[in-house]
Amino acid sequence: MRTKIFTSRQLKEVAQLIKKGELVAFPTETVYGLGANALEPKAVKKIFRAKGRPSDNPLIVHIAKKEQLYEIAFVKPEAIKIIRKFWPGPLTIILKSKKIIPKEVTGGLDTIAARMPKNKIALKLIELAGVPIAAPSANISGKPSGTSFKHVLDDFNGKIAGIIKSKRCEIGLESTVIDLTTKTPILLRPGGFNFEELKAALPNLILIPNKRTKRTKSPGMKYKHYSPNAKIILFEKCAINKMESYRIKYEKLNKKVRTINPKKTKKFAKELFNMFRQYDKEKADVILISSMDENGIGLAIMNRIRKAALKIVT
Ligand code: TXA
Ligand code: MG
Repeated sequence: MRTKIFTSRQLKEVAQLIKKGELVAFPTETVYGLGANALEPKAVKKIFRAKGRPSDNPLIVHIAKKEQLYEIAFVKPEAIKIIRKFWPGPLTIILKSKKIIPKEVTGGLDTIAARMPKNKIALKLIELAGVPIAAPSANISGKPSGTSFKHVLDDFNGKIAGIIKSKRCEIGLESTVIDLTTKTPILLRPGGFNFEELKAALPNLILIPNKRTKRTKSPGMKYKHYSPNAKIILFEKCAINKMESYRIKYEKLNKKVRTINPKKTKKFAKELFNMFRQYDKEKADVILISSMDENGIGLAIMNRIRKAALKIVT
């Protein structure tokens, strides 16, 4: 398949592809999405095939207007309260799903993940398509999410109908996912909005316990994620002094080593997945990463690093 490259001035053509049941990668403020008509099971199945994604890992449905939420989900007061403040933006909410959404999107669950992105191109595309767009992050399953046009081209050239060429995604990490179907709202995945700012609006919001339980609430949480080819070794704070000896050990073994010292800044968050992909291009064997405090944006950054890590030194 030839993958057509579009600019943001060709969104009508791109919307046409979505209407025809094709896959198109589009920018959002968080990461690039790999979109298909959320109401068309055949189109949605193509997403899973292109990514190599397990079919029980459900997709986020993207909408262009808050009112559209009523078409796809049963809306509760907490949802209204929180989307008033945080939509459009990097927040995904889980609600009970309406029948219009096929099981291919929800992985067979009776709930749906919904998000109204802030990116103008994404909003315009959804509006022109006239249907909600199901879209996971645009990356081969298990790999770092695509945060630039180049990343998406590397992963999907020849495999999807089109890619919208745009600038780097501003946030660089995925949206925050909140489950509103439970009595107490639960933050399932930290992301673009910090826990602290969301809790200010939803005071009983809790963080999901960190343990990898067998029956996970968010199906995606049980899979390996965000991993470059290089082996990531994370050093907990108490073990940071061991980093140097690891570096020496690997270099003696003729391994190419890279080191990352994360910072709690927006700039660092934006750069994280790009660094992973860059080090793969440089054929690094090992990436050594030091841990940092998990508050503010640090919670989302450390969440991605923990999931990408093959080994944690304590
Ligand atoms: O920023 C983002 O959220 C990006 C952009 C493209 O919008 N999308 C994204 O999608 O990160 P994805 O598929 O890579 O991650 C979606 C996460 C997965 O962990 C999935 O398991 C979870 O949301 N999820 C989807 N539907 C769910 C549901 N009904 N209940 C619980 N978790 C759900
Ligand atoms: Mg993803």
